[in-house]
Amino acid sequence: MSVPSFASPSFSPLFTSFFVFFILSGTSSCLAIRANSSRPPRQLSENYYAKRCPQLEQLVGSVTSQQFKESPASGPATIRLLFHDCFVGGCDASILIASKPGSKELAEKDAVDNRDLRVEGFETVRKAKELVERKCPGVVSCADILVIAARDYVHLAGGPYYPVKKGRWDGKISTASRVGTNIPHANTTVDQLIKLFNSKGLTTQDLVALSGAHTIGFAHCKNFVGRLYSYRGKGQPDPDMDPKLLHALRMYCPNFGGNSDIVAPFDATTPFLFDHAYYGNLQQNLGLLASDQALALDPRTKPFVQDFAKDNHYFFQAFVAAMDKLSLVKVVRGKKHGEKRRDCSMHM
Ligand code: HEM
Repeated sequence: MSVPSFASPSFSPLFTSFFVFFILSGTSSCLAIRANSSRPPRQLSENYYAKRCPQLEQLVGSVTSQQFKESPASGPATIRLLFHDCFVGGCDASILIASKPGSKELAEKDAVDNRDLRVEGFETVRKAKELVERKCPGVVSCADILVIAARDYVHLAGGPYYPVKKGRWDGKISTASRVGTNIPHANTTVDQLIKLFNSKGLTTQDLVALSGAHTIGFAHCKNFVGRLYSYRGKGQPDPDMDPKLLHALRMYCPNFGGNSDIVAPFDATTPFLFDHAYYGNLQQNLGLLASDQALALDPRTKPFVQDFAKDNHYFFQAFVAAMDKLSLVKVVRGKKHGEKRRDCSMHM
């Protein structure tokens, strides 16, 4: 087993060289997969902007490829941003709204469960939107840009390329109070995860496939430190964690008084490559979060973990289908409920 690498988000030299090594050696798959999921809601289509902004995907693509080179953390940051947007009131870019100074109610992005969302995801959408506004003013929603950017990063990291449906409008509501019950946590049980995903129209297979996004990206110690020292308050580490991984994680994440900026990679074997290694890792007790590891143990999710661990192509197909469904959760359409923001962080 290769020992995972650690870093603070400020990117230590160790981290930078590790990062660059993996980016250079990562194979980029050109596999294109078409989702075979339920029908899109009316008015959403792959060629929605064909007349009013035909170059949209190239414009967003120029920003994502540049960002990926300069700041590879943008990839996982943007993919997670999309997930947190879609699970709270639908894929309507409400996560991008900034809280109004002096206002009693905070916006979604400032909810406790969103505080660890990396700035690189917000920056990607801001830059892409700025460019798109220069070429096609007032036409494209922030919600569509977020979906396109997340897709781009999946592909840039070596994952599948897939067409995305467009035509979302941006939501008019963004409140922190809606976040808590809609975002899963590191200690959420499989039972609760299945129920939460079902409530968004996603199946157990979708849950396991989408969790495969943890094939890239990082988590802060606070999200798994409980597993290292006193799992479920019993004074012993989690028996379902590989002893070498446990030892490595303990070196960087002390039980008390550690640096709260330290992060560990989700995928201990290929942390920067979008592939199915995440599932093989789970089978070897190399999952980082309790919620990841549990997917390989629960009889309802284990068969999917086994299938995806065996077959990368099958994982890609299931991931594309699930991303398609995720990015259609409660989309907003039309002026009555939606807006097309010029600045994604401010309502019109
Ligand atoms: C199944 C339930 C899930 C749970 C419990 C969960 C939980 C978490 C946690 C605790 C983190 C670490 C945050 C930090 O410490 O900074 C994280 C990161 C991440 N999550 Fe999830 N997540 C889940 C599902 C998803 C889904 C469905 C996606 C996308 C489709 C996703 C994408 C990501 C990515 C890419 C990161 C890395 C972010 C980065 O490095 O900036 N997660 N998740």
